[in-house]
Amino acid sequence: MQLALKLRPESNTTLQNQLFAAIREQILQGKLKAGAVMPATRVLGEQLSVSRNTVVLTYERLVAEGYLESRPTIGTFVTSALPENALFFKRLSDSGSGFADQDAGERLTARHPILFQGRAQKVVNPNQHKLSADFWVGRPDPHSFPLKSWRRRLLHQLATAGANLTTYNDPGGIWELRKAIADHLGPARGIMATPEQIVIVSGSQGALNLVARLLVNKGTNVVIECPSYQGAAFLFESFGANLIPVRVDKHGLNTKKLPRERADLIFVTPSHQYPMGATLPLHRRVELLDWAWETGAYVLEDDYDSDFRYQGSPLSALFGLDQHGSVIYMGTFSKSIGPGIRLGYLVLPHDLVEPARTAKALLDNGHAWLDQVTLADFISSGSYARHLRRIRHTYWKRRDCLVDALQQHFGDVRLTGAEGGMHIVWHLPNNLPTAIEVQTIAEKAGVGVYALEAGAAICLHGNECSQRALIFGYSSLTESTIQKGITLLSEALKAST
Ligand SMILES: Cc1ncc(COP(=O)(O)O)c(C=O)c1O
Repeated sequence: MQLALKLRPESNTTLQNQLFAAIREQILQGKLKAGAVMPATRVLGEQLSVSRNTVVLTYERLVAEGYLESRPTIGTFVTSALPENALFFKRLSDSGSGFADQDAGERLTARHPILFQGRAQKVVNPNQHKLSADFWVGRPDPHSFPLKSWRRRLLHQLATAGANLTTYNDPGGIWELRKAIADHLGPARGIMATPEQIVIVSGSQGALNLVARLLVNKGTNVVIECPSYQGAAFLFESFGANLIPVRVDKHGLNTKKLPRERADLIFVTPSHQYPMGATLPLHRRVELLDWAWETGAYVLEDDYDSDFRYQGSPLSALFGLDQHGSVIYMGTFSKSIGPGIRLGYLVLPHDLVEPARTAKALLDNGHAWLDQVTLADFISSGSYARHLRRIRHTYWKRRDCLVDALQQHFGDVRLTGAEGGMHIVWHLPNNLPTAIEVQTIAEKAGVGVYALEAGAAICLHGNECSQRALIFGYSSLTESTIQKGITLLSEALKAST
């Protein structure tokens, strides 16, 4: 058989590529039928005046891509099973003068609309490299990451991994880590939970996604604190939830204002309200749990930075107080170790354990084994508790340094959230401009201080709660940077008036 092929030796395209494209085109257009025998390589080479090797290499590539089949000692044939996308290409090229010059809009049916709609929380500061002191929230001290210990454990786990890296593990998390977390939570947070109730997730955001998958869809009533954390509010919003904001006051969530209508879920940060920083007092915790029991709502407790408490003793988590299985607890290692490890966990009431494990399996088949086992080793060896004691002390000193610096430059400052955590909120006095204006003036002076919206917070009652509140993260800054930053801020504000 002679093939009607023409090559152009003067072209910039190699002869091999031309031959490949020409044969492929003939197959796709049906000119070379499925099962047709191809000419011998020597014969085709002579016909086209190209070397036999050019034809051999072209056939090999057409075989590798599934257009031809080679049957040893018999010959080379057009494949009988073209891939579906090739047939699609054929249909298009059949319908006109060639694929490339057709207007795809005329022939392709409209793409399905993207169903996801959402906005992302601001946890990455795009300006960080331009600032000489950046009070961005929620960042642990980069020098306090337990690098040596982590590296040693990681290498040891790698060396003894056996089949763990080549098999699937429990989608809910490896047992050693769930056990280590359960053991830690009893004394640390007053939570009595079994390892079976724990699911390992990718930070708090992974926990929020899993819970939303279980409990939220279009129209679900989700109560949130106002102001609240963008990561939670935006996530529920993306699932179509109906968000019901309840204001916080100086004690945290105002439980007297909880809605009487049916609510399905409430998202709260009782240890250190995000962003305002209040610790929810015991009587409000009890009121919240009573309300949840009466309305049938689940309470989602985000305990993101409770490891850092500088004044008074920490209150037990809501999960530990609850008698009715209403509370879902979420913890993260993003604040205590670092967001780079992307590890967190859910502690679930019994009725949600299996649905959550199933949802997690569907989502990603579980978290990376190596990270989990390294963390499990870090916690169960006692290193985590030592690490926490060490950084708690460091952050405490940094908090004191920030409070002192603010007092020194601005007098009797009104602050909230200083009892614990990694940030404080300064309620601006009337003689200073609004928070957004202060943020802009500070940025020009090389200092990052943030109005609530820029600090990953959201106020659903408009911007009224955020106009006069500035948020300062201090955990990642040395004391000298904190002092320098507040001095620069003070000078910049003086110069602006
Ligand atoms: C209220 C709150 N929850 C949780 C997180 C932590 O998120 P993740 O664990 O996904 O890193 C943050 C981080 O800024 C936060 O502010």
